[in-house]
Amino acid sequence: MSVAPRTDGVLVDRFGRVARDLRVSLTDKCNLRCTYCMPAEGLPWLAGPELLTDAEIVRLVRVAVERLGVTEVRFTGGEPLIRPGLVGIVAAVAALEPRPRISLTTNGIGLDRLAPALRTAGLDRVNVSLDTLDPDRFAQLTRRARLDAVLAGLAGAAAAGLNPVKINSVLMRGVNEDEAPALLRFAVDHDYQLRIIEQMPLDAQHGWDRSTMVTAEEILASLRTRFVLSPDPAERGAAPAETWLVDGGPARVGVIASVTRPFCGDCDRTRLTADGQVRACLFATEESDLRAALRAGADDDDLARRWRTAMWGKRAGHGIDDPTFLQPTRPMSAIGG
Ligand code: GTP
Ligand code: 5AD
Ligand code: SF4
Repeated sequence: MSVAPRTDGVLVDRFGRVARDLRVSLTDKCNLRCTYCMPAEGLPWLAGPELLTDAEIVRLVRVAVERLGVTEVRFTGGEPLIRPGLVGIVAAVAALEPRPRISLTTNGIGLDRLAPALRTAGLDRVNVSLDTLDPDRFAQLTRRARLDAVLAGLAGAAAAGLNPVKINSVLMRGVNEDEAPALLRFAVDHDYQLRIIEQMPLDAQHGWDRSTMVTAEEILASLRTRFVLSPDPAERGAAPAETWLVDGGPARVGVIASVTRPFCGDCDRTRLTADGQVRACLFATEESDLRAALRAGADDDDLARRWRTAMWGKRAGHGIDDPTFLQPTRPMSAIGG
């Protein structure tokens, strides 16, 4: 193992992991207020001049694709559909060589309207967050009565060919922990792929509690009351979701067990925030300021070098179970998950 970051090529860290999957947050703002993510009044948003412009985002993604070996680009938020330049950004990224695969993680509001244009621009697929199918519960959980809009967004994505359409559901004790089987029934019936997620300590309100978290084991037990789950023969690779075949397949369900079954050893991710900071990990406490370098006139080589150095410092794992664990100061909504 070498002892210093490479000066050329891919984004490798001290543990030999290579980051080929770039997650780009396009905004820290959101049109929902999920209780596990944001306070009702919202958060202090990034100011306009702090945000990367569309051209700056495309430039940094180009550096990642052309010089750093990134092959997957995922746009996140906050809520990425509220970024005005989204369709143009997707089109510009789809024109890069070699063309990366492009996906989006969204709350689905407005997706019915935007899906065709996003598909034409080059978006390959979407993941939609949906934690409950009950309209009242949805309104309580997200503090907005928009369940119908999310369901329309899911249908619009499938109709536009943004497949596979995946649903992300975070299960929370006393809130929606009973809903796993109903969510899976809904997903299977509509040909969406459900993934149920263990809640991670990323909420701005610091309300997360390991002892009350709904675990993967409980999620699987709950699903097995209504479905037969068998191991999925497909390779998992670096995917956060462990998948099972539902009632013999071909439908699948995933569980993302970041806390009880961490997958950090296989992590292939690098992150760029909406204000141009590279994060080596979702839980990183350090960031590397590419915006400052870019605005000071750095060339592509220099930006690539800084990105490699940032990733070299990536820690072995998130350390949620360490007594010294500290939640990142940047909230989840400004990292993008
Ligand atoms: P696919 O490529 O479609 O499988 O997407 P994904 O599951 O990688 O990404 P998505 O944006 O849908 O996120 C699903 C869940 O995984 C969210 O709760 C994310 O916060 C979480 N997640 C994404 N990347 C990481 C990661 O690097 N580490 C951990 N611990 N969780 C992650
Ligand atoms: N733990 C796990 N997943 C989370 N998400 C938001 N907050 C958390 C958390 N604390 C999910 C959202 C969305 C994705 C980007 O991350 O539901 O699907
Ligand atoms: Fe918005 Fe996603 Fe946070 Fe919900 S979890 S408030 S949809 S950013």
